[in-house]
Amino acid sequence: MIEFEDVGHSYGERVVLTGVDLRLAERRVAFVGANGSGKSTLARMINGLVAPTSGRVLVDGLDPSRQGREVRRRVGFVFTNPDSQIVMPTAGEDVAFSLRRAGLPRRERAERAAALLAEYGLGGYADHPAHQLSGGQKQVLALCAVLALDPAVLVCDEPTTLLDLRNKRRFVELLGGLEQQVVLVTHDLDLLGGFDRVVVIDGGRVVADDEPEPALRHYRALVT
Ligand SMILES: Nc1ncnc2c1ncn2[C@@H]1O[C@H](COP(=O)(O)OP(=O)(O)OP(=O)(O)O)[C@@H](O)[C@H]1O
Ligand SMILES: [Mg+2]
Repeated sequence: MIEFEDVGHSYGERVVLTGVDLRLAERRVAFVGANGSGKSTLARMINGLVAPTSGRVLVDGLDPSRQGREVRRRVGFVFTNPDSQIVMPTAGEDVAFSLRRAGLPRRERAERAAALLAEYGLGGYADHPAHQLSGGQKQVLALCAVLALDPAVLVCDEPTTLLDLRNKRRFVELLGGLEQQVVLVTHDLDLLGGFDRVVVIDGGRVVADDEPEPALRHYRALVT
């Protein structure tokens, strides 16, 4: 359960979120809204990357800004730009790095990492330099490394911006099959077909919160 209680946020003088009250228990939740409306700021609060300046956020009763370590064990975060989260020289090492706390011997970790890469369409890339993957492949790698940690919640901030049609479809399928609760920030409304709940943010406030169809109708009406 992710709770936002009367959450506000300012970057210096600039107020970017106001009075956000949400209890998110659904498996598939999306945040949509215009550029600069506050979606990423809101999403980042779920794992404590940004702390609210008023109100509070709770993840399974834990406060991400005070119990960050415990929260980050539950919440995986996939960024828009995969370069910001790929940390190791090769794809296999990057996924194995995520597995370092699993208590497995080095060789088993490498095997697990290779199996995970294969599962997500990067079979054969285990020894490939991570920085020489294509943008979309890096995005898949970043997702794979986060899922290797087996988080209970997956927050993805525009994870498909670099993906081609095939990889986007694959991503949608993959998302559909995950047990995790997923919170997705996206401008790509095609991704929201199977979603349970869509929260529309405008000017730092929640302006619609509903099933995809009525929520997206509201969002489209805002734009026209
Ligand atoms: N680190 C920061 N310092 C100062 N202002 C920031 C910072 N990050 C974001 N902002 C401002 O906060 C507002 C909300 O930004 P945010 O990134 O949450 O929007 P967003 O809805 O994710 O937009 P986009 O769709 O473009 O990704 C914007 O006006 C932005 O300029
Ligand atoms: Mg954003």
